[in-house]
Amino acid sequence: MPTPHHDPFDISLAELRRRSSAKWSLVEPDVLPAWVAEMDVRLAPAVAKALHAAIDISDSGYAGDASAALSAMVDFHRDRFGWSMDGSRVRVFSDVHVAAVIIVRHLIEQLGPENNGVIITPPVYNSFYTWMPEAGARVVEVPLIEPERGGRFDLAGFEAAMVAGAKILLLSSPHNPTGRVFTRDELAELAALAHRHGVIVIADEIHAPLTFPNTEFVPWMTVSPEAREVGIWVGSASKSWNLAGFKAAFVYTERENVYPADRTPENTWGAGLFGLISAEAAYRDSRDWLDDVRAGLAKNATLLGRLLGEHLPEVGYHPPEASYLAWLNVAALDLGPNPTQTLLDEGRIFVSPGPIFGASTDWIRLNIGTSPTHVREYVARIAAVVANRR
Ligand SMILES: Cc1ncc(COP(=O)(O)O)c(C=O)c1O
Repeated sequence: MPTPHHDPFDISLAELRRRSSAKWSLVEPDVLPAWVAEMDVRLAPAVAKALHAAIDISDSGYAGDASAALSAMVDFHRDRFGWSMDGSRVRVFSDVHVAAVIIVRHLIEQLGPENNGVIITPPVYNSFYTWMPEAGARVVEVPLIEPERGGRFDLAGFEAAMVAGAKILLLSSPHNPTGRVFTRDELAELAALAHRHGVIVIADEIHAPLTFPNTEFVPWMTVSPEAREVGIWVGSASKSWNLAGFKAAFVYTERENVYPADRTPENTWGAGLFGLISAEAAYRDSRDWLDDVRAGLAKNATLLGRLLGEHLPEVGYHPPEASYLAWLNVAALDLGPNPTQTLLDEGRIFVSPGPIFGASTDWIRLNIGTSPTHVREYVARIAAVVANRR
């Protein structure tokens, strides 16, 4: 029997409030959470089925043979993005966090503590600021140019940081929080620069499967021979299929000496078994579901632009080209010294504050990975706060 077609975002507020995940459990019951990067989606049917099947046989031990998940991941990247990676070079980790920390720490051990600078591009994914010190690295900020228009690379800034000794660059591509999908030319320029200065680029492509229809995502490893040579790719099904609680991520590189010796291709002990089971079902059997989500997110991004234009035209918004994060400049709304707190206190909506991404309090990040109803409610709540203060 064909599976009935459901809108992945068709899920009631009452049901969402029963969730115990971070997004929903860490806010009070009258607050609408629009912060951490989880989506308000129903699981892809094939993912739910695979997990139910595992539960039915109490298959809840350690992760073991990852080959099925790994080939599903490799095939997905070949079919979607035209990138054929050699599966025997892939390593399995619990998540991007652990992968990035283990790899950066290992690289810095070889480079020496005097070469521990890692370039990042604020406004950027907040955890990069905590992961790098955890790995023994020093954050070197080279901000994106014109983040209000999605952001472009500051090549001169990169070069200055590289000349000053930074040997690693950690890239979020597509970019969290601006939602930029960098073009092949932009990435190629960065790759040439990195290659010239002997800089390793860690391309965190966790948001890539959520690139919107009609936008081309170019995997770092396919950009140019230089990119491939300097690159370390990190990916996971966790953002795109909303599986963050299950724990599985993948790393691919053609470089040597990237991992500690125990990180062999067979070492899958750190991953969650449900992470591998769900990743396999996601990459292999949940591509239609993913396309429904991508289409829904693209519509939400457009809807948000229309609603802001109608109700809050002073807000700066450049629509994302991927994923579910909207990067908003709220300076003109006069929300006081801490806009996020004001919106929480007076509007009962919880968004992420600009400063955690390396930006000022003029900025907030709004999570639109939800139903259009909630996107409307977000704008209504923010508009009500503004109206009440005037
Ligand atoms: C760019 C980026 N990298 C990594 C992560 C987190 O990945 P993980 O949960 O696998 O550590 C996120 C989560 O939002 C992210 O946006």
